[in-house]
Amino acid sequence: MSSVVVRTPAKINLALLVGPRRSDGYHELASVYQAVSLYDEVTAASLPAGEISVSVSGVGAEHVPVTEDNLAVRAASLLAEECAIDEGVALTIHKSIPVAGGMAGGSSDAAAALVACDALWGTELDREEMLAVAARLGSDVPFCVVGGTAVGSGHGELVTPALARGTYAWVLAFDPEGLSTPAVFSEFDRMLDDPELTASPAVPSDLMTALLTGDPVALGQTLTNDLQPAALRLRPRLRRVLDFGAEHGALGSIVSGSGPTCMFLARDTEHAVDLAVTLSSSGLVSSVKPVTGPVPGARVV
Ligand code: C5P
Repeated sequence: MSSVVVRTPAKINLALLVGPRRSDGYHELASVYQAVSLYDEVTAASLPAGEISVSVSGVGAEHVPVTEDNLAVRAASLLAEECAIDEGVALTIHKSIPVAGGMAGGSSDAAAALVACDALWGTELDREEMLAVAARLGSDVPFCVVGGTAVGSGHGELVTPALARGTYAWVLAFDPEGLSTPAVFSEFDRMLDDPELTASPAVPSDLMTALLTGDPVALGQTLTNDLQPAALRLRPRLRRVLDFGAEHGALGSIVSGSGPTCMFLARDTEHAVDLAVTLSSSGLVSSVKPVTGPVPGARVV
């Protein structure tokens, strides 16, 4: 095989409960992830041993490093090292997931690079081994491999598929300027007046029940994000975007992960298109996209 193409989804958090900062610098968290139909594409082509290159095109490409700091490059290097692979790879990333948008764009590209290089090199890692490598790259990388709807624990890297019914129609509203995830977590720390209150974050049972029954109204009411106040403090204009969604019939309006992307749960795909059109003509956001979830994780196409 001389080249492999992988399609890899963005993630949203239906719930993100955050505990205090741990001694390793991460925050303990309880999360419900969902992969949605907004995809980056990563192509891996054979290169001689030891050579790993990357090029990036698409939305926000100018903000993505094309050095060894690129998370997809780190994924390929780590996989080669772990499996003692004597081959190189040229990675080509086409981005649609916003950079620094709170949608795991970089993590998803890393997940795609793992899946693509695994196929290109024939490493034959099993699922558990692949997820262990993914966890070393970033908190959201294992989920991006798995996809669907899943509960995340630890610092997000421990992923268990969730029992979930139905397909949900979401509208994503993008902000023209990204937010740094570490900056949002630091703002969260500054705003936390009682660390005891969130010492052991747990996924809300009413949200899990809503997913189990496939009830979008109940899901909309139980969406929750502990990072939202911090993201709003850093980007106050998002408040108006969230309010606009709520005023136009969204079943739930919330910041995605560390932001600044806002997400709205629509009644169905038709409502999602209507909401997307209304939001896009509001002048409040730079662009909008109706998507559906859950969808699978990073997969060879
Ligand atoms: O795991 P990842 O490298 O994607 O995380 C980026 C940064 O986000 C971390 O360095 C840390 O500052 C913050 N983070 C955190 N707690 C988590 C996940 C991420 O503080 N559970």
